[in-house]
Amino acid sequence: MATFKPIDLSGLIDERKASSIKAQIAEACEKKSYFQVINHGVPIEIMEELREVGHKFFDLSKEEKLAVAGKPYIGAEGYGNSMILTEPKFWREFLEVRILPLSERRYKYWPQQPAEFRETVEKYSAAVLDLTHRLLAVMSENLGLKPTYLRNAMGHTETQQNIVFQCYPPCPEPENNFGLHAHSDIGGISILMQQGEGLQVAAEDGTWELVPPYPNALVVNLADQIEIITNGRYKSAQHRAIVNRQGTRRSYVTFYHPAMDQKMFPAPQLVDAKVGPLYREFFYKEYWHALPAKRVIEKRLIHSFAINNSVSS
Ligand SMILES: [Fe+2]
Repeated sequence: MATFKPIDLSGLIDERKASSIKAQIAEACEKKSYFQVINHGVPIEIMEELREVGHKFFDLSKEEKLAVAGKPYIGAEGYGNSMILTEPKFWREFLEVRILPLSERRYKYWPQQPAEFRETVEKYSAAVLDLTHRLLAVMSENLGLKPTYLRNAMGHTETQQNIVFQCYPPCPEPENNFGLHAHSDIGGISILMQQGEGLQVAAEDGTWELVPPYPNALVVNLADQIEIITNGRYKSAQHRAIVNRQGTRRSYVTFYHPAMDQKMFPAPQLVDAKVGPLYREFFYKEYWHALPAKRVIEKRLIHSFAINNSVSS
């Protein structure tokens, strides 16, 4: 199947176009596990500001960046450099901060430089959260559920949000290295702004499909909790980042996670009476803590939450 063109969300507010836009989103969720959106409501100038603070941060000296270093892969907050700090070595630098819940913000991991970092991240993440809520409402309706279903199923006002700035420098041996290995995100949905080619998503036949960057578009990846709530009707996107010799690639990913104390389970309306639920009930923190310390998963984590191995790999 050819790569989907970005879906123009401006049509959602026009009654004559809304049903076609919703159908495009439904098809993408069912067949691809990801899609791109334009006219998404996240202001272009705020996207530019976020990219700008990302550039300024990664241009700081190593010492300045290490001032907000986290313990690599533990807690996943702060600055990390997979090329010098961790095994296995992924060809990237990153900075992750937790946005929500407010009570979990740890400002020691928020850089002081550039000075506009905090204000810019707050503006961008709020706009992305609003987009997330609108997309979850459309996806709920597409599944025959109340518009609030998916949001409530993940904790409504208690959900979590993180942002990761990623920088993939030119790599002398791109054929022997990855920016990020193949994985699916563990939360609800992930919204990504990318500068430069490198994101690949696994197609149904197992081949890797490049997700081309479009100006001012955002990529929406379905993550594991959507697969669980929909009882496998929507799958989480298997994706990876490849690197290249020529130039630096950057991406900015906002993760939307259920609340830690949220009980997760397949929506009863989507469970086939004969087959039953494919996944067991659990609290989201159990899933979160099941992620191996190094975040390298040989098999998909979601399979260990399946009932009677009913979900094949
Ligand atoms: Fe990911």
